[in-house]
Amino acid sequence: MLKSFEENLAKFVGTRYAVGLNSGYDALHISLLAAGIGSGDEVIVPAHTFVATCSAVVNAGAKPVLVDVGKDFNIDCEKIEEAITPNTKGIIPVHLSGYMADMERVMEIAEKYDLVVIEDACQSLGSSMEEKKSVKFDVLGVKGKEKERRMAGAWGLTGCWSFYPFKILGGYGDGGAITTDDPDVALFATRMRYNGEDRDTGEYHGHGYTCLLDNMQAAFLDVKLRYLPQWIVRRKEIAERYRQALSDLPDLLLPHYDDPRRDHVYQNYTLRSKQGSDFSEFMKVNGVEVLTQFRKPYYKHEALKLEDRCFPETEALSREVCSLPMNVELEDEEVGYVIEVVRGFYKKIRG
Ligand SMILES: Cc1ncc(COP(=O)(O)O)c(C=O)c1O
Repeated sequence: MLKSFEENLAKFVGTRYAVGLNSGYDALHISLLAAGIGSGDEVIVPAHTFVATCSAVVNAGAKPVLVDVGKDFNIDCEKIEEAITPNTKGIIPVHLSGYMADMERVMEIAEKYDLVVIEDACQSLGSSMEEKKSVKFDVLGVKGKEKERRMAGAWGLTGCWSFYPFKILGGYGDGGAITTDDPDVALFATRMRYNGEDRDTGEYHGHGYTCLLDNMQAAFLDVKLRYLPQWIVRRKEIAERYRQALSDLPDLLLPHYDDPRRDHVYQNYTLRSKQGSDFSEFMKVNGVEVLTQFRKPYYKHEALKLEDRCFPETEALSREVCSLPMNVELEDEEVGYVIEVVRGFYKKIRG
């Protein structure tokens, strides 16, 4: 079961290998160890993400260096270079909510400074971005580039996946994986998930972890993966309905971006409302389940002992984020009701 799911996941993402693990966190942590990142190293992470992105860096013994995000909730590529120091070893771009970070730009920067890229793709299975491929034609000395699409999780050394039930491909408990083209990384992860043991020889190759994706979850995920493309179509339909019904409201910033290179698969439909918690509370009181991740940025939690270098975009969006219901089980009438409640809120506050 596990082997079949790994093969199908690798095929779907377009990498040579996929290795099933226990969670998205494990995927990040094992990727950092596989890249040899540890004590004395710095790794760039976005200031707006789920805390696990950052915790994996800390638990690998390295120092996370936070960078603000842009209007699309993903790392602001214009701010990456100023965060690079002689100790920087890697970047973890996060593809949040189903929309990829600008990987073409991230890869350019990584190449320039010789950095490892580990993609936190936990929220974006199925998402892709157009890339300009190497020189494909040379007509009378004019070199050209051909464009093709590359999936999230197939750009960096590894792509890290979470199959936590709430995810776009969710299991019935925790689950995760890495995808990679690197045979050494795949082998390392395969051993580390079994406490360092090579299951063929019985030899221990290091102090590992118990972090295997179990067969039962792999079996469920393998079946669900077949339906993912059609589920993404449905998600896009719902997102389009929200767009058509809500884009005239000036206090809402909807997650539709002006970059035809990137394909949004809408794991989450996260908008920004100028009315922040007043808006999200109104939704809840009226029976609409919304998410407000994250009102308090992770670097502001004292126990994490992270440096708050002031990230204006993260602070602003943290006050305003609100994810509307988004899943394939939503009926058209339910989407209609969500829209009615959103419009009802703005009608009420405008009097
Ligand atoms: C962006 C991001 N990174 C990492 C993780 C960690 O994944 P998991 O909960 O499977 O450990 C998650 C999932 O919650 C996530 O959304």
